[in-house]
Amino acid sequence: MDFSKISLYSLPILVFFVTASLSGCQEPTTANSDQPGKWNTESKKWTKAQIVALESGESLYGKYCAACHLKNGQGNMTSGFPPLKGSAIVKGPVKRHVNIVLLGKQGTAMPAYKNLTNSELAKIVTYERNAWGNNTGDWASEILIKQLRAASVR
Ligand code: HEC
Repeated sequence: MDFSKISLYSLPILVFFVTASLSGCQEPTTANSDQPGKWNTESKKWTKAQIVALESGESLYGKYCAACHLKNGQGNMTSGFPPLKGSAIVKGPVKRHVNIVLLGKQGTAMPAYKNLTNSELAKIVTYERNAWGNNTGDWASEILIKQLRAASVR
């Protein structure tokens, strides 16, 4: 067997793999790779603008919601605050999720957040739907919040 021939033929293949793995490293991954697991990055590539909105959603969540539902979304069932991580409402239809946040839940500790702007609510809801492994890939738009707010005026 002529080994010099084999290595000659395998050279292009080798070059291919080296280039492929190098270009893999240089792929623009935006902020995703800096924050593994923070929000769904496996099945979804967010744009830069979306990442900025998700970050803002995270801080708004920290400000308004984390006192009860906790930063890690796990809630505190001993105090009656349900987890949002894995919640059927958070992973279910966007409309129902938004309505709970907008209107609160009467007779429970869950307040209504009508006082927040459409933009703030959109960011919080979108963050919740994509944080802690919820991974819905959904984007709740400001327009949607506006429509649901108009529909839910009581
Ligand atoms: C003072 C505590 C408190 C704060 C603050 C709070 N929540 Fe809640 N939240 C609750 C309670 C209690 C429930 C459960 C209501 C019920 O019994 O159905 C709840 C339920 C929910 C649910 C439904 C979850 C499910 O699976 O049933 C969502 C979604 C939710 N809250 C989102 C938010 C968001 C978004 C914020 C911040 C903008 C927020 N909550 C702030 C107490 C709170």
